[in-house]
Amino acid sequence: MVDGPASVTVVSGVVEVFDSLVESKGKVVIREGKRLPFTAKETATLEISLGENASIEEVDESTIPLSWTEAYEQLLNFQNKPVVAMVIGTVDSGKTSFCTYLTNKLLHEKQKVAILDGDLGQSDIGPPCTVAYTYITKSVTDLFNLEAKNAFFIGVTSPSTAINKVIKGLTSLKKEILDTDPDFIVINTDGWVEGEDAVNYKVQLAKELNSEIIFCIQQKDELTPLLNSLEGFKKIVVESPSAIKQRSREKRRSLRELGYIKYLKNAKVQSLPIGWLKIEANEFLGLSTHHGDMKQARKVYDFLGMKPLHFAELKDRVYMVIGRSCWINDEKIKKLEEILGKKIVVIRKGEEEGLLVALYNNDRKFLGIGVLREIDYSRKTLKIFTPVSEGISIVALGRVKLDKNLKETPAFAEEA
Ligand SMILES: Nc1ncnc2c1ncn2[C@@H]1O[C@H](COP(=O)(O)OP(=O)(O)O)[C@@H](O)[C@H]1O
Ligand SMILES: [Mg+2]
Repeated sequence: MVDGPASVTVVSGVVEVFDSLVESKGKVVIREGKRLPFTAKETATLEISLGENASIEEVDESTIPLSWTEAYEQLLNFQNKPVVAMVIGTVDSGKTSFCTYLTNKLLHEKQKVAILDGDLGQSDIGPPCTVAYTYITKSVTDLFNLEAKNAFFIGVTSPSTAINKVIKGLTSLKKEILDTDPDFIVINTDGWVEGEDAVNYKVQLAKELNSEIIFCIQQKDELTPLLNSLEGFKKIVVESPSAIKQRSREKRRSLRELGYIKYLKNAKVQSLPIGWLKIEANEFLGLSTHHGDMKQARKVYDFLGMKPLHFAELKDRVYMVIGRSCWINDEKIKKLEEILGKKIVVIRKGEEEGLLVALYNNDRKFLGIGVLREIDYSRKTLKIFTPVSEGISIVALGRVKLDKNLKETPAFAEEA
């Protein structure tokens, strides 16, 4: 077992990682916070280079539980294609590794396999804060090495505040996968499994995704309430490997940051005219809408004794962006709310800086992520740091913030 950051080069012989063969000259990179089990298929010589705090440990037996092999055999026996299999388990229970193992095995049987990754906080396929899918065309030691076919941006790292969005994202991606006639769809999920809300959410997810089989990776008895609520579903309980290494919040965050780095490679600041875009946002909603009734807006300016940088009147609320050092009287805002009969949301210029965004084309194909640097209200442009350079029609703003070094800033960071 090798704990990253490390790399392993096979000098001679053959080894296996989650059923993916690595032959002579093959090189495997183990990211920080990850552990990979190498099984020698024949006498093998490895060259191992260890980074900071990396380590290796030799064990006598395979660390793949027997129940994983049995689970795979049951899955292969399903006759009605496409087979939709969902994997559930708590944080660090082995979900990703189990999915890697299953998909590698299915691939060896010449099956067409799609992996739909619903773990937005520890995503393997798409960027962090997204759900995404791809097809397995070659065996892999780490699903992170695959490239997403399409993704759906959630904008947060934890599903608890975005339940409907996650369900919508996964169902729409699954529909897209079904159009391509796969044999198997393996769906990974987030680690939020305990408590009533989590149970309800997972049950709803299983229903909406029409899972034929649910693999439940159990450590102790943490899945009992969820298992009881998943009535009517075919469930197979599998073990969480004892060799698993638990990760701290910080490790999980730094793994996510590797994801931001991967998807923001070669990024440049792009200036995009707001008028050409459809902007999907919460607090900044109304960015692409017009000022509404100009007379009304002017009345408001007069009342406040100032002209905001941006003013958008929607059905039930008014969004107003004011300068960084601008002073505004709370009492006046309250009065104005009464006069207009609407809620007024005041946003300070600069609050947008660092927000994670997703970019889509006209057909709502996911193009990539970016970091919002500035909303320039006078030039009516968005300045976005992104490697995506063409075809941007939709910009979706997330709630995660990244600093210049692509580290999540604590004020906004949520935890998976
Ligand atoms: N059978 C195993 N042997 C050794 N290490 C494992 C095994 N299964 C998982 N791990 C390691 O344990 C860590 C947690 O597993 P992972 O699959 O990432 O869990 P999850 O996706 O549920 O968070 C990872 O570093 C993974 O590589
Ligand atoms: Mg995982």
